[in-house]
Amino acid sequence: MSKKINKKVRKKFVERFNEEPLVVFSPGRINLIGEHTDYNDGYAFPAAINKGISAGITKSKTDFSTIVALDKNEEYTFKVNEVAPLEKGGWRNYILGVVGEAQAKGYEIGNFNLSFSGNVPGGAGMSSSAALENAIGFALNELFQLNISKEELIYISQKAEHNYAGVHCGIMDQFASMFGEKKSALLLDCRNINAEVREFNLEGYKLILINTNVKHDLSESAYNKRRASCERVAAKLRVKALRDATEHDLNLIKDEISDDDYRKARYVIQENKRVNAFMKAVENSDIYSLGKLLYQSHEGLSKDYEVSCEELDFLVELAKKSEAVVGARMMGGGFGGCTINLVKKEGLDEFKKEVSLTFKEKFKRNCSIYKVKLSKGTHVVNLKN
Ligand code: GLA
Repeated sequence: MSKKINKKVRKKFVERFNEEPLVVFSPGRINLIGEHTDYNDGYAFPAAINKGISAGITKSKTDFSTIVALDKNEEYTFKVNEVAPLEKGGWRNYILGVVGEAQAKGYEIGNFNLSFSGNVPGGAGMSSSAALENAIGFALNELFQLNISKEELIYISQKAEHNYAGVHCGIMDQFASMFGEKKSALLLDCRNINAEVREFNLEGYKLILINTNVKHDLSESAYNKRRASCERVAAKLRVKALRDATEHDLNLIKDEISDDDYRKARYVIQENKRVNAFMKAVENSDIYSLGKLLYQSHEGLSKDYEVSCEELDFLVELAKKSEAVVGARMMGGGFGGCTINLVKKEGLDEFKKEVSLTFKEKFKRNCSIYKVKLSKGTHVVNLKN
């Protein structure tokens, strides 16, 4: 699937800039379980997918850089020595952010021409932003031979998100996009940013994403607010992060914190435990437990963490009613985007039909359904193959 988009990016680049670009592909990600645990130093189980961002790049022969956002049909020029976040900059801020944050670390970046296109839907909780950031960092690193390690690149991407896009995200998205492996998910320990690669291939079952195609307002500020709640409770408990706390610890300070902070922290502590239980269930091919954990995760995200929305809850309720679905939950930051569903192969087509119809009946809009393949992380594309 990424072959087509890489070819298109190359062709359009040559048409616009009259030279052969270096092309990189950087994937989006799914997350099986471990939501909103990353900025609590916890565990998550994400994987890179076969949808992402393709970018072509060359050095500029002028004293400015030109960026072409192919899907939006927009062009933007800037000078690398005058980089700062833009108000309402949209996609531009991710690019400026990576350049600015790499410069802040002392890397020298010349002006460049870049065009990019994506087949990962934006706002769907599949990390199109991390895919774009990683694509830019990776491409600049190759082009200017900066010798930045992949580890450092993902921190540059994360800082771009914090300081240019204003979202105080964890490291899961950038990590999964950069380090993904074929047919595998990554058991990520967000404290030391170490991951174990685990094959994820359940015979007879498929993962599908159902996109509500909505992104509710204020999701950025709500995200930052959740993070602040977690940090407040961790400080009260005198631990570095909620990863170090148990429900028992939390109950001891229940009367000293707001009910809202209590429920947010309880969700995080429980979700972190669910990741471990999920890993055991994967090892034992215990499908029943996998499904149960997915539904529990959703319940916590919806009722306690309050990052779901009507459309996502509706999709999970539909999944629960279907014999074919093992488990489902909302995925990513929340307030819209996708649910992830583990579905038996036999009943898959019927479930898809039913979801499309029922969703449309209820919301008078279409949802989108995607099959995803677990794929390799950010890489240079060799277009000869
Ligand atoms: C967004 C953030 C991630 C993570 C998820 C929720 O995708 O970018 O760092 O916090 O939300 O798990």
